[in-house]
Amino acid sequence: MASVDSTGSSVSRRLRSGDLLHAGLAVALLLGPWSVGGLVVSTGRVSSIEAMNGSTVLLPCTYSSCIGIKNLYFNWQFNDNGTKYKLCDAVIPDDGEVPWVHVYQDRVEFVGSSESNNISILLWNITFEDEGEYTCFARNPKEKGHNHSAIFTLIVVDQMKEVDNTLTVIIVSVLGGVIGLVIIVMGIKALVIHFQLKDD
Ligand SMILES: *[C@@H]1O[C@H](CO)[C@@H](O)[C@H](O)[C@H]1NC(C)=O
Ligand SMILES: *[C@@H]1O[C@H](CO)[C@@H](O)[C@H](O)[C@H]1NC(C)=O
Ligand SMILES: *[C@@H]1O[C@H](CO)[C@@H](O)[C@H](O)[C@H]1NC(C)=O
Ligand SMILES: *[C@@H]1O[C@H](CO)[C@@H](O)[C@H](O)[C@H]1NC(C)=O
Ligand SMILES: *[C@@H]1O[C@H](CO)[C@@H](O)[C@H](O)[C@H]1NC(C)=O
Repeated sequence: MASVDSTGSSVSRRLRSGDLLHAGLAVALLLGPWSVGGLVVSTGRVSSIEAMNGSTVLLPCTYSSCIGIKNLYFNWQFNDNGTKYKLCDAVIPDDGEVPWVHVYQDRVEFVGSSESNNISILLWNITFEDEGEYTCFARNPKEKGHNHSAIFTLIVVDQMKEVDNTLTVIIVSVLGGVIGLVIIVMGIKALVIHFQLKDD
């Protein structure tokens, strides 16, 4: 019953698949036994994303319930160093019904769809301040106020990283060139000395 959804996807291209995937799977397996209610909220297999400053990211979240939903309440919260800010919330009256979503922050857009139990949001034009933990929270009144949530971590990286790489390449090539030059000069010197000795 406690199925973990594995269809988490992302807009950003910079996913660290391998390690994070395994870590995410381990976390999902660990948390699995605790999600014993009818409702399961999941941010997918990968519970973290690395995205570039200025890009737009998808914060994925889906829910599933084997007993069905009725007036499912959900929200997204950002944990800014202990203080939780609500990004958006809504009530889904029934399975497949389109919720009317309140959005509380400028760069947040609800992109979910009730047909696919998808309550994902987009976070536009991210900055370094957006880095942190995002909680997807849901409560199904059918379950007498049981709370369910899943956490998704956003890591914001600098666009300059690529430039750093090319800088390293340049430094390595220059160093290589200099070493090569020294070897050539030494070789010429050795040859000159060799011929000078021959002449003598
Ligand atoms: C949820 O919806 C978003 C936007 O339409 C989409 O990109 C994403 O893949 C969906 N996630 C799932 C698990 O269906
Ligand atoms: C992050 O992106 C914004 C908008 O593109 C830019 O103004 C800012 O300088 C960037 N910060 C860094 C540290 O690159
Ligand atoms: C987070 O809060 C703690 C204590 O409240 C503070 O020491 C720390 O500097 C804060 N960190 C950031 C990034 O604001
Ligand atoms: C994101 O940034 C682009 C370019 O700076 C701007 O046109 C757009 O309105 C911004 N979107 C939001 C939701 O702030
Ligand atoms: C569920 O969360 C609400 C706040 O949204 C809180 O008031 C309530 O006590 C929580 N219920 C349980 C069972 O933890």
